[in-house]
Amino acid sequence: MTLKLIWQKIAAKLHALVLVMSVILVCTSPWVLMGRQLSENAGFWSLFHVYGGLITACLALLFAIKICFKGQWRQFFPWLLLDFNPLKIDLVGIVKGRTPMSGGKGLLSIVEGIGIILLLLVAVTGVIWYFVDLGDALTWRSYHQIFAQCFIGFMIIHLLLGLLHIKDFFD
Ligand code: HEM
Ligand code: HEM
Repeated sequence: MTLKLIWQKIAAKLHALVLVMSVILVCTSPWVLMGRQLSENAGFWSLFHVYGGLITACLALLFAIKICFKGQWRQFFPWLLLDFNPLKIDLVGIVKGRTPMSGGKGLLSIVEGIGIILLLLVAVTGVIWYFVDLGDALTWRSYHQIFAQCFIGFMIIHLLLGLLHIKDFFD
């Protein structure tokens, strides 16, 4: 199998993998207690959080590369080019009761792009917490917690927008 084929197979599964891992990490985070470091008698969910989290960090990086590939970054981050027109059309449409379309440079793609950025920030702050000295760990833990909460906010909005589409499908 060529490298390109392997990449295509992985790329096709990235959304599902990131989704499953993120949902498990977020839902089990109440049972994670680590503070400054992963202690020797850490529980299963703390161990899972660190090693599952490190794997998810790699998946997040691959997902970010995938959605930026071949100029696709223009779709997910149109605000970098100050291209706000599709977003405006979507927002005006929502006020008139129209569901925003996926695939363009509008609301859905912008939310998805912000989601990727938040997931990368959650992942990076988690990884830095793992590698820094004990003295700095609590600071990075608090950054990680803030970004994790924003990321949960993204998941809820992204889920609701997705459900809106399913509703449209049956209308
Ligand atoms: C990339 C996917 C990850 C997600 C979605 C995620 C999510 C979360 C969430 C939701 C919390 C609870 C935040 C709160 O208390 O408000 C948390 C806490 C935490 N996470 Fe992650 N995390 C991820 C990766 C990592 C990684 C890679 C590490 C480190 C190797 C890590 C280390 C921590 C630590 C130290 C805490 C605080 C636990 C405590 O002591 O209470 N996370 N994470
Ligand atoms: C809460 C569970 C989730 C559900 C039900 C869900 C559902 C969906 C659906 C239906 C689409 C297609 C919509 C479209 O074409 O615009 C989509 C796309 C997307 N989602 Fe999610 N998603 C979830 C979690 C996540 C997570 C955790 C991320 C991580 C950042 C994410 C990032 C994306 C991105 C970047 C896209 C557009 C690119 C692609 O389709 O691969 N989603 N999602």
